Amino acid sequence: MSKAAILIPGRLHPHAESRIREAFEVVSIARPDAMLLDEPDRERIRGIAVASGIRAQSVDGEFLGAFPKLEIVASFGVGYDHLDAARAASLGIMVSNTPDVLSEEVADTAVALLINTVRELPMAEAWLRQGKWHSVGSYPLTKGTLRGRSVGIFGMGRIGLAIAKRLEAFGLPISYHNRRKVDGVDYGYHESLVELARAVDTLISIAPGGTSTEKAVNAEVLRALGPSGVLINVGRGTTVDEDALIAALADGTIMSAGLDVFANEPDVPEALIEARNASLLPHVASASMHTRTAMADLVADNLLAWFRTGRALTPVRETAHITGP
Ligand code: DGY
Repeated sequence: MSKAAILIPGRLHPHAESRIREAFEVVSIARPDAMLLDEPDRERIRGIAVASGIRAQSVDGEFLGAFPKLEIVASFGVGYDHLDAARAASLGIMVSNTPDVLSEEVADTAVALLINTVRELPMAEAWLRQGKWHSVGSYPLTKGTLRGRSVGIFGMGRIGLAIAKRLEAFGLPISYHNRRKVDGVDYGYHESLVELARAVDTLISIAPGGTSTEKAVNAEVLRALGPSGVLINVGRGTTVDEDALIAALADGTIMSAGLDVFANEPDVPEALIEARNASLLPHVASASMHTRTAMADLVADNLLAWFRTGRALTPVRETAHITGP
């Protein structure tokens, strides 16, 4: 029997690609543009494997509709705001993502970024490397500390929960806002994000991207967080109104921010790069070899499971009801 043809439109983790090549025929194009394939090739494609978090690799409804035999899109990453899952569902196409295998890594990074932000550890390290310990003396005491803080988590999914568990062990009170109250989670729930921001001084966003969360962390939320407020974002850059954040950091509306994600990656506004009260990372929350390899395996395993059993291992919510032919 001939192997199913899987399209890789753009860059994909090399381990995912080599696992896919073992079982399938791979067709590669530079980006998700159906015009890069001729019609006979478009008609053979039964699966797509694509990475999330790369602006030029968005998979829109038109692209999905260009492949009459397309059955599954296996996406690398837990966030899938780069692809039109609702359209995929309406076309009967399965979409899978890579949850769980990255939760602990992302939660570790979120806590590290929080500590870096309040205790200024990257700047303290730069102080040492620049010889200032010798020439000037000790690094100045930090205004920020985790002691006495209360934490609000925006997005209480699997990663939100992993972050909450860690910070509970730090002795910090936790509350959250989510689309809805989560069963079995005892942390205090706030119906709105602004209410949550009012109740805490440390807001950690791990909310997914997409229209329902776009610029959810806005000027009003930042004002509610207050002058000792700290914002950490390890979800999607689009959930924060970056202009409002830049203004809030500049005029003291909040104290500081730690950001792993940005609205327009890899472009980071110059005002954030220059802000001394912002700690910035280049979208690395899940980026260890260990975790990225596990995510790559899950992309390949979803394709294998689909073509063997008609079921994906980790379907996204919108397509969870879809089964194979
Ligand atoms: C994810 O898995 O969504 C991470 O942000 C990597 O893109």
